[in-house]
Amino acid sequence: MNKFIDLRSDTVTKPSPAMRKAMADAPVGDDVFAEDPTVIELQEEVAAILGKEAALYAPSGCMANQLAIAVHTTTGDEVILEADAHIYNYETTAASVLSRVQLNPVKAADRGLLSAEDIRPAIREKAYYMPVSRVIALENTHNRAGGTVYPMERIREIAALARGNDIMMHLDGARLWNACVFSGHSPKEYADLFDTVSVCFSKGLGAPVGSALAGPKELIATARRFRKIWGGGMRQAGIIAAGALYALRHHRERLAEDHAKARRFAEVVCNDSKHIEIDRNRVETNIVLLKIEGGPDLPHALSMLKEKGMLLSLGSHGLLRAVTHMDVTMEECENAAYALVDLFG
Ligand SMILES: Cc1ncc(COP(=O)(O)O)c(C=O)c1O
Repeated sequence: MNKFIDLRSDTVTKPSPAMRKAMADAPVGDDVFAEDPTVIELQEEVAAILGKEAALYAPSGCMANQLAIAVHTTTGDEVILEADAHIYNYETTAASVLSRVQLNPVKAADRGLLSAEDIRPAIREKAYYMPVSRVIALENTHNRAGGTVYPMERIREIAALARGNDIMMHLDGARLWNACVFSGHSPKEYADLFDTVSVCFSKGLGAPVGSALAGPKELIATARRFRKIWGGGMRQAGIIAAGALYALRHHRERLAEDHAKARRFAEVVCNDSKHIEIDRNRVETNIVLLKIEGGPDLPHALSMLKEKGMLLSLGSHGLLRAVTHMDVTMEECENAAYALVDLFG
């Protein structure tokens, strides 16, 4: 079979030989007894990087986000988030199923990035018959908005608004590593403005499995209980945690290469195409959203691209999505962009 240029997602990467070796060699124990030395090492390292007291390894980003919602809320509470947020669109109503809370989506005026002005009207009055505004959840980078990055000052203003209203701050930082490489801020600088932070190892960092939730010790101990209730207690998880640890240590800085590939992909398309639109203001990290004017319907466009050896995915709002990552080269990204222009003009 021909090798596809697979730009569907940064989750499609395979572990490198060095990562596989680290996984094979990892010391392990029973993590339900909190005895897996590699999981413990990963959790301590993540907590240190984010400047939090503790962290918990979780099987997925969805679970890490849902653990955060579970530890912050009680029945009848509400989580304020952006209308295109992953937690709202791609976590299959988990917050209402698992934590029995309501999500309150707010449309951001700027590229998926909320401001304090966007959020203020969504905060509920305090009345027994109304939901309690308990958590503000931000997503950085913002996946559906095209990998956009929050300006630090914007988060600072939102955090001040949250504090003034007894609201907890959660960061869906599945791609926080990309945000840091783009902005030059450290993970801790972002994390300092949040009570809890979820991060993923299986996106741009290229590990096969896992995420972590970081926050205060007591909340993370509660999260461990919920993880067990939800069937996420793992035994010799050090095998997969070693992949995450390797990724954390070796693959963060190289995300700049993925960002350069996305910029180049967008540049080629924008220079050469009359019918494909890209909002280059959104191309800050590794995601490119494309609109094909007057082209075929999107599933048809995707199958035409596949015939040319290229895999893209459906974005939201009638857009196609291309995501760069460590398993595609700069040349492959350029070739994909030229092929797109050839197909759709
Ligand atoms: C912003 C964001 N949060 C959370 C997740 C969930 O991660 P997982 O697929 O590991 O559950 C994703 C997955 O793509 C994501 O993009």
